[in-house]
Amino acid sequence: PDLEKWIDEVPRPGVAEPAGTKDGHPYYEIEMSEVEQKLHSDLPETTVWGYGGQFPGPTIEAERGEPVSVRWQNDLPDEHFLPVDTTVHGDMIPYDTTGVRTVTHLHGGNVESESDGHAGAWFTSDFEETGPEFEKKDYYYANEQPSATLWYHDHAVGITRLNVYAGLAGFYLLRSDHERSLGLPDDENEIPLVLQDRSFNEDGSLFYPSAVSEDRGGDDSHPDPSIVPEFYGDVPVVNGKAWPRLSVDPERYRLRLLNGSNSRYYDLELLEYDEASGETGGAGPSFVQIGNDGGLLSEPVTVDGRLEIGAGQRADVVVDFDDYAGETLLLYNDAPSLYRGTPEKSEETKPLPEIMLVDVADESDGEGAGTVPDALTTVPELPLEDVERHRHLTLAPGSDEYGRTKHLLGNREQSEGYTLDDPVTEEPELGMTEIWSLANNTSMSHPMHLHLVHFQVLGRQSLADYDSSEDGVDPDALESPAPYELGWNDVVSVDPAEVVHLIVHFGEYEGLFNDQTGEYMWHCHMIEHEDYDMMRPFNVLPNSE
Ligand code: C2O
Ligand code: CU
Repeated sequence: PDLEKWIDEVPRPGVAEPAGTKDGHPYYEIEMSEVEQKLHSDLPETTVWGYGGQFPGPTIEAERGEPVSVRWQNDLPDEHFLPVDTTVHGDMIPYDTTGVRTVTHLHGGNVESESDGHAGAWFTSDFEETGPEFEKKDYYYANEQPSATLWYHDHAVGITRLNVYAGLAGFYLLRSDHERSLGLPDDENEIPLVLQDRSFNEDGSLFYPSAVSEDRGGDDSHPDPSIVPEFYGDVPVVNGKAWPRLSVDPERYRLRLLNGSNSRYYDLELLEYDEASGETGGAGPSFVQIGNDGGLLSEPVTVDGRLEIGAGQRADVVVDFDDYAGETLLLYNDAPSLYRGTPEKSEETKPLPEIMLVDVADESDGEGAGTVPDALTTVPELPLEDVERHRHLTLAPGSDEYGRTKHLLGNREQSEGYTLDDPVTEEPELGMTEIWSLANNTSMSHPMHLHLVHFQVLGRQSLADYDSSEDGVDPDALESPAPYELGWNDVVSVDPAEVVHLIVHFGEYEGLFNDQTGEYMWHCHMIEHEDYDMMRPFNVLPNSE
């Protein structure tokens, strides 16, 4: 359908209410269910899957130092409404369960393994059937990590792309006294925004492809339905509204940006916009980045030019609309779809340049809108001298028995990659600091995510200059991380023919994070890749010393 743009106001997801307490801490019961929701004024109601009866789900507001428990309940129908390809990990997934498999992962959560939402810890309606990794019904989140913009979403093996596309995602904002003491914009001036892309059928239902397009190698020999290598929708959806507009006062706002799309990258900036002609003008206000995936940066960074967010990433930014009173701004996206693997920007790359309009009111209501102090927090550096192990990991191209493209993760021992159910190969010990070098041998960018931990980006180099037989890195010889990659991250973008070096500590560090052992996942956050076959376990072992 040809939807008229800029009709609906961006909704705010609202806050989840605890159902009670458990062991003296907030206890939530959040059900996943099928709901009908208006995603655009001119569309009939769309069938989506929501947490707490809505898409996106209600925001869980958590406080550092105060644990919460959540019973994630599956009240979904027996059948999926999107095309399920039963050849995806067909040998390890029972596709004939009664009821849809789900499991919720707290993305960015430094949590115990049993509560992490392992892809194999899925369960069906009323926990009738459970996956091999299922351990408990009530998940426990310790909340001892720094305050940060986290999010929760489905993680069921083989169908995560479909469950998240159907709507299973929401924010989890971890706050702290320290953060409140900074006087950042809050209340009405703090807005979580999840950017997603969707496609619609004429009747308003969600469209998700069931076959690989011809230009990506689709043909009749493929299973039907077939997983697609990536998904790019033609309609931007922000907090569950298509082509929306956001009303603000000419004040400072804190925007918690989350890329909750299946595959799409965003390269964002605000531009002046003339709605009558549809023409863009000069640059609008800059994003002042104050935090990323794992919490606050040590100091604010003014993003010069565009802000890149790969799938799964968050950017905590402050925007000052004060100089733009009475104006309309466009949240503009310049990222092509296959991102840096795209030979040139063309029609086929399906760019989605217009995401959202921002209407800045003529006058401020005079309520104070917060400040951005010069110092935000202390982000300790992870010293290179502490590194005890250098892992050389690869992002590798591959194909399956039907000749379909899939991507894999490997390491120095097997650079062409492993499949999900190959034995665990990455087993860091608790208390260790490691370098994880991610070498991209494929022809496109991948936003790579590690569960449990937050890492720091040491820098990048070209694949041609990289020798995976040599341990250790010289940070001075690397291209420095981008300004928006400082501090603690849990997703990092790796471009084609590039190696990104990360430093990561497993366990408690300077009073931040927890000691945790057990199995977790690491994967590409383009969910089509995560499902097939760019996800691997890692196992944190107790310290042997
Ligand atoms: Cu946001 Cu393993 O995921
Ligand atoms: Cu990928």
